[in-house]
Amino acid sequence: MSDSYDAIILGGGAAGLFCAARAGQRGKRVLVLEKSEKPGKKILISGGGRCNFTNIGAGPANYLSANPHFAKSALARYTPRDFLELVESYSIAWHEKTLGQLFCDGSAEQVVDMLLAECAKGDAIVKCAEEIQSVDKADSFTVITQTGSYSAPALIMATGGPSIPKMGATGFAYDLARQLGLKVVEPRPALVPLTLGGEDVLFRELSGVAAPIVAEANKTRFAEAALFTHRGLSGPAILQVSSYWRHGDPVVIDFLPEAPTDWLLEAKRDTPQANARSLLREHLPQRLADTLIHRLALSGDLGNTPDKNLRAAQDRLKRWSFHPNGTEGFAKAEVTAGGISTAELSSKSLEAKRVPGLYVIGEAVDVTGWLGGYNFQWAWASAAAAADAL
Ligand code: FDA
Repeated sequence: MSDSYDAIILGGGAAGLFCAARAGQRGKRVLVLEKSEKPGKKILISGGGRCNFTNIGAGPANYLSANPHFAKSALARYTPRDFLELVESYSIAWHEKTLGQLFCDGSAEQVVDMLLAECAKGDAIVKCAEEIQSVDKADSFTVITQTGSYSAPALIMATGGPSIPKMGATGFAYDLARQLGLKVVEPRPALVPLTLGGEDVLFRELSGVAAPIVAEANKTRFAEAALFTHRGLSGPAILQVSSYWRHGDPVVIDFLPEAPTDWLLEAKRDTPQANARSLLREHLPQRLADTLIHRLALSGDLGNTPDKNLRAAQDRLKRWSFHPNGTEGFAKAEVTAGGISTAELSSKSLEAKRVPGLYVIGEAVDVTGWLGGYNFQWAWASAAAAADAL
C-alpha cells in the first residue's frame, strides 16, 4: 500500500491530534500514525481523568528549557484562551480548580472526542495500531509501518517522551532525531516524586501525611502541598521542584511559610509555660510536628529553653534541607524534561533548521511545563505553530 499526503504526523497524542486537526482544516492532507489501539491515551488519564487541559496563566516563565526564550513565540500565538474557546464551542463544561488550572467537569474523554471531531472536520486521517518501523529521508519522508509505507514532503514528530513506559511511552522521538542528525538534550524524569535515604529515611514513617509548605530546589520555589510517601516526598510542591532538582542538590522546605521569623522567641515571651511540640501541632499535622520536634531535640517548656536553641529551631523549620537520593524515575514521572534540542528548531514553526520539512512538537521538544495544565498548553501551542507553517 502506498499513499501520499502533505504531511505525516507520528503520534496521535495531544500535540499530534491537534496539529492534524488544524493542518487539515487549513486544507492540508494529513495522516496521523499512532502505535496504540486508540489515540490520546495520556489525555484520557490526565488530571485524574478530568484532563487539566490548560492553565489560564500559562506563559514562558512556566517552562524549563535550555533556551528559556524558545517557547515564547508559539505560546503567544496560540493562547490558553484560544484553547478554552475551542472547548466551549463543544459545550464541554469546565472549572478552574486552583492556580489557573482548568479541568473538564465531566471527563477527559470529552477532550479526545473533541480533538477527533476536529480532525474529522479537516479530513485528517488517524490510523491507530501503526507501529513505525523506519523512517527514510530522501526528497520526501517515507514512513514504514508493519502495514504499509506512507510518504509526504513533511514529517511531524509528535511521539512525546518516555515517561510512563507501561502506557507505551518510548524515546522513539530521540532515536529518530539522532538518526536525522538532530541533537538531544539529555532526557530526565520531571514532575516526579523524590526518594529519600540516609538520615532522611526516618521521614518515610510519615507516609500519607500532607502539609502546605514552600519547597525550593535550585533557587526555584513553589508554595503548594507536600506529601510524605513510603519512598520519600511527593505532592504538588515536590513534583514542581523535582523538575529543577539535580542529583546531589538539596530540597529545602519551609514548614511554616506563614510564621513570623521569630515566632518561637515571641511565644517564649508571651507564653513561657507552653512547649514547642504543642505549638507546632497548631500549625502542622500532629505526626509531622512530633517528628520535627524529635529531630530538633526540643523538650521542656519554652521558658526553660535557651534563646539560641529556639532561634536555631525556628531557622531550621524555615529551611529544612532534605537530600533526596533520586527520583521515582520515568515509571512515575508525569513528563520528561530535556528532549530534542531547541537549538535545532525554529521557534516560529518548530521546523528543524537542518532538515527542511521535519517538525517536532509537544513533549518531544526540550520544553517542559510546570504541573497544572502547562504541558498540554505547550502541546496545543507548538502543534498550532507547526500546523500553520505547513
Ligand atoms: P503524548 O504522549 O500525548 O502523545 C504521544 C503519542 O505518540 C502517544 O499516543 C504514543 O502512543 C505515540 N507514539 C509513541 N511512539 C510512537 C511510535 N513509535 N509510533 C507511533 N506512535 C507513537 N499535562 C497537563 O497539562 N495536564 C494534565 O492534567 C496532565 N496530566 C498528566 C497525567 C499523567 C499521568 C501523565 C503521564 C501526564 C500528564 N500530563 C498532563 C502531561 C501530558 O500528558 C503530556 O505533556 C502531553 O500528553 C504531551 O503531548 P504529546 O502529544 O507531546 O505526547
